[in-house]
Amino acid sequence: MPLSARSRAASVLTRVISGGRSLSEALPAALKSVADPRQRALVQELAFGTLRWYFRLRVILAQLLKRPLKPRDGDLNCLLLSGLYQLSCLEVPSHVAVNESVQAARELKKEWASGLVNAVLRGYQREAAGLEAMTEASREARYAHPAWLIDRLQADWPQDWETILDAGNQRPPFSLRVNQRRIGRDEYLALLQHGGSRAHALKYAASGIIVDPPVPVEALPGFSEGRVSVQDGAAQLTAELLDLAAGQRVLDACAAPGGKTAHILETEPGIGSLTAVEIDAGRLRRIRENLSRLGLAASVIQGDATAPGDWWDGLPFDRILLDVPCSATGVIRRHPDIKLLRRPQDISALLSLQAQLLEAMWPLLSAGGMLLYTTCSVLVEENDRQIDHFLSSHLNAVKTAIEVAWGRSCAHGRQILPGEEDMDGFYFSCIRKAI
Ligand SMILES: C[S@@+](CC[C@H](N)C(=O)[O-])C[C@H]1O[C@@H](n2cnc3c(N)ncnc32)[C@H](O)[C@@H]1O
Repeated sequence: MPLSARSRAASVLTRVISGGRSLSEALPAALKSVADPRQRALVQELAFGTLRWYFRLRVILAQLLKRPLKPRDGDLNCLLLSGLYQLSCLEVPSHVAVNESVQAARELKKEWASGLVNAVLRGYQREAAGLEAMTEASREARYAHPAWLIDRLQADWPQDWETILDAGNQRPPFSLRVNQRRIGRDEYLALLQHGGSRAHALKYAASGIIVDPPVPVEALPGFSEGRVSVQDGAAQLTAELLDLAAGQRVLDACAAPGGKTAHILETEPGIGSLTAVEIDAGRLRRIRENLSRLGLAASVIQGDATAPGDWWDGLPFDRILLDVPCSATGVIRRHPDIKLLRRPQDISALLSLQAQLLEAMWPLLSAGGMLLYTTCSVLVEENDRQIDHFLSSHLNAVKTAIEVAWGRSCAHGRQILPGEEDMDGFYFSCIRKAI
């Protein structure tokens, strides 16, 4: 008997919630052996949705359990959370959600717990209104985010923090970037619409499209032939800000999986050279795969951008894209596991890596050249405050105003908050090197 979607989803969730693995590591392995597209979609829905609402669901579950589960029953905990997710957020008939969850407990070899699963889920059905009202008393449950992050967002964005939290609980749009070297956006939109997909152009990203409802990438016309890639609209603004021109030497210093690398090449076919550096060998392979699918070429180097002496040929770059590792607090709607996996203490390590990367990349920029610093974070420390430190300690670094209609102006750059114009949360700062 193949495993059911519910027990597979519980296993994925256990690897994330108890094992600390990311959803993008845990989910593909679980989906590999599921041939039926509806079952695949259900595993995915249960995994994403349960993580999205985890901080709310766990408070409800605690009320319904007579005593806490033992640590070795992490899988059961996940099965119960996903059962509560189905009952509270999905339109699955409740008897199906309950009965299938009971069956999944048996598949997880927890036959003894089938009565418990039944009792907890039926208990929720009986007391749903009271339990949901009770979640209002807990900030974590109410906003479905960890307390430390709620506090930081409130401090950084006193007017917008609740909107940011709400955006972090939404399903993300399915955003595409058309490969303008192969096909125009209008023509690709027509292809999608002709094939029965509902799609529209993104307002600010010149090659961006949203398909709603999402479709599997294999169903996108010309995906394997490189006509289109999956990429958020905010990420697509990066190549547009680089002010690319023929003949330039460009460095993409933190490049994997290569979304922006590819977009740079699509945007400026006459580019002199593009060097894509990435520290992680596994992720580096993704850059090669993406470029090859899109029919593009760059010099792809496995290297540490904080130690350019190991890989740099000594010729300065006209443009440097520094898309640094960050808290990813602007893309929580796409990666709800961030709510559980990111810890407050990670932020200081990220801040110091970002500062090291800025410091190491600056000497590689030509006089008159431009470095574009980007994050998918909404935390001021990683964005304006990081750039503020850098500018105050580098007299030849001159910030350049970003004059655009999107996002909001900050002291040293531009910030998009998650959900604005259907885009992820992103920060951009353009820094020129004085001649
Ligand atoms: C935000 S992601 C880059 C996303 C990429 N620019 C894109 O658009 O597809 C940051 C990347 O930096 C890499 N990285 C982290 N530390 C690095 C270092 N010291 N040198 C080079 N790459 C690094 C990470 O492995 C990760 O792939």
